[in-house]
Amino acid sequence: MSQSSPILVLGGTGTVGSRVAARLRDAGGDVRVVSRHTEQRFDWEDPGTWAAALDGVPIMFVLLPDRTGMPEAFLPEALRAGVRRVVLHSDRGLEVMGMDQLQRTEAWVRDSGAEWTIVRPDWFHQDFETFFRQSVVDGRLCLPVGEARQAFIDADDIAAVEVAALTGDDLAGELVEITGPRALSFGEAVAEISRATGRRIEFDGTPGAYRQAMRADGLPDEVVDALTGSFVRLGERGDTVPTGVVEKILGRPGRDFSAYATDAAARGVWDPA
Ligand SMILES: NC(=O)c1ccc[n+]([C@@H]2O[C@H](COP(=O)([O-])OP(=O)(O)OC[C@H]3O[C@@H](n4cnc5c(N)ncnc54)[C@H](OP(=O)(O)O)[C@@H]3O)[C@@H](O)[C@H]2O)c1
Repeated sequence: MSQSSPILVLGGTGTVGSRVAARLRDAGGDVRVVSRHTEQRFDWEDPGTWAAALDGVPIMFVLLPDRTGMPEAFLPEALRAGVRRVVLHSDRGLEVMGMDQLQRTEAWVRDSGAEWTIVRPDWFHQDFETFFRQSVVDGRLCLPVGEARQAFIDADDIAAVEVAALTGDDLAGELVEITGPRALSFGEAVAEISRATGRRIEFDGTPGAYRQAMRADGLPDEVVDALTGSFVRLGERGDTVPTGVVEKILGRPGRDFSAYATDAAARGVWDPA
């Protein structure tokens, strides 16, 4: 890839965005990664930081922090600054989990007049080394999704699809729902991690166990209720069927959860600190 103008990567220091930025750089792209903690500061909550980030940018990747949406003024400013392609990292669970702000953001991107691609991934493999890491290390994960199968996807595969959307034309105007190659329940995923680490790890998919664990962590009741409700709805949706879209776009199979678990265990991800 030869690129003289920078591709702006918002959210580019996190799990997925850092992989998007690395892939773009490996392909020879000029990449501008900005966040609250980069030298050039960008903060969604501080509009004064937006103009410098957008300066001279034709293409941008947008990944918003969990459960937030884009400020309404941002996209018009980006278009005025010369952005003509937007790849939005969204979320496959946004409807069932009630992520209204992200739904609004999707609509703004679709209606913006820019070339757009919206990528909706399923649960990340890497959630087991971020949100769920401590529970895995402690030997007990509670999440009120029951035994419904989720099509966990590797963050590297998400990034590969998003880079394809940023750098090629085939995905323009598309909403792509991406999953891993196999759906498995949280209980089955945790069993894979048990196998890979050689340690006993339990999974409890009931609302009661989750509520108890969250209250023990000090979360207020209204937050616990909201989280419980959205996970229960996700569980009630039933088993997810893998979409096969990663395979179609990348021309290779997505990474399976057991390969992820083996590799992550070897990296010491779940070693007690
Ligand atoms: N986890 C899942 O299973 C899953 C599944 C599907 C979709 N998603 C979606 O994926 C997204 C999360 O992706 P991720 O896990 O890769 O994110 P992440 O690792 O939490 O990274 C978040 C990024 O956003 C930046 N950021 C946070 N607050 C910011 C602010 N106020 N202004 C500017 N930048 C800010 C962070 O950098 P700084 O902290 O330096 O600012 C970081 O670069 C969410 O939109 C979620 O809905 C998640």
